[in-house]
Amino acid sequence: MKIGLIDSGIGGLSVLHEAYHQLPGQEYLFFADVLHVPYGEKTPEQIIGYMMDNAQFLIDKGAEALVVACNTATSVAIKELRSRFDIPILGMEPAVKPAVEETEKKRIMVIATPVTIREDKLKSLLHRVDEEHRVDLLAMPRLVEFAEREEFDSPDVKRYIEEQFKSFDKSEYCALVLGCTHFNYFKPAYREYFGEDTLLIDGNCGTVRHLADVLGLELKVQQDTEVFFEDYHNILGLANTEYYFSKKLINDEKTLEHLKRLHNRLEQVRNV
Ligand code: DGL
Repeated sequence: MKIGLIDSGIGGLSVLHEAYHQLPGQEYLFFADVLHVPYGEKTPEQIIGYMMDNAQFLIDKGAEALVVACNTATSVAIKELRSRFDIPILGMEPAVKPAVEETEKKRIMVIATPVTIREDKLKSLLHRVDEEHRVDLLAMPRLVEFAEREEFDSPDVKRYIEEQFKSFDKSEYCALVLGCTHFNYFKPAYREYFGEDTLLIDGNCGTVRHLADVLGLELKVQQDTEVFFEDYHNILGLANTEYYFSKKLINDEKTLEHLKRLHNRLEQVRNV
């Protein structure tokens, strides 16, 4: 099965990375819209326009199903995509439901882009699942910039995280929901800030399981890091994934190295 994944940038790679773990036998088309990142600060009309174009591109390349590996694009464009294209299209939304179900009493912080936080989709999700009003929302757009610069652990990143959270009492929070796929790269910084007891919850595992379910694919038992690395060094650069940066096929050594570094990072932070 040829599966397309689309994000504004390298955030979607974290979803692909999880798919490598659990659905390693499939073929993937990965699309990072680097010419238009960040989506989180664009208008809904702009994002819908980009996404229609990106989806058409991947379908022309043979995608039989699409994952919108971006919470922001899902919030504003998923309905339009589904009504235009006649293949399975999965979206992503902040994993608020598991956060509410897995915890009790203490508060839950959802971080996402300004668009995701503003849009009705998240509001109606909260309305459905946050009966006790335990969830707070916080936009952290600069993390997208930092991620695109491959800057994950710098003093500037740590300072930004501290500043953004400073009006909240961190001892009140039991879970941090990463409502933007770019935010996965910073797990060590959140861990340092919140300590060991706070759950870090992202939507990647759930998305890949949902994908398997919709497409009728069998999930592989998750591999440990060592075995995964043996396999995945064979994956990058070989037939099973084509990487596109806004329609440009990536085949130069420098960018492939960049992607490898990002996969390494994602593997390191997967269970932080
Ligand atoms: N990775 C995207 C998300 O999950 C958005 C990043 C951006 O602002 O472009 O929301």
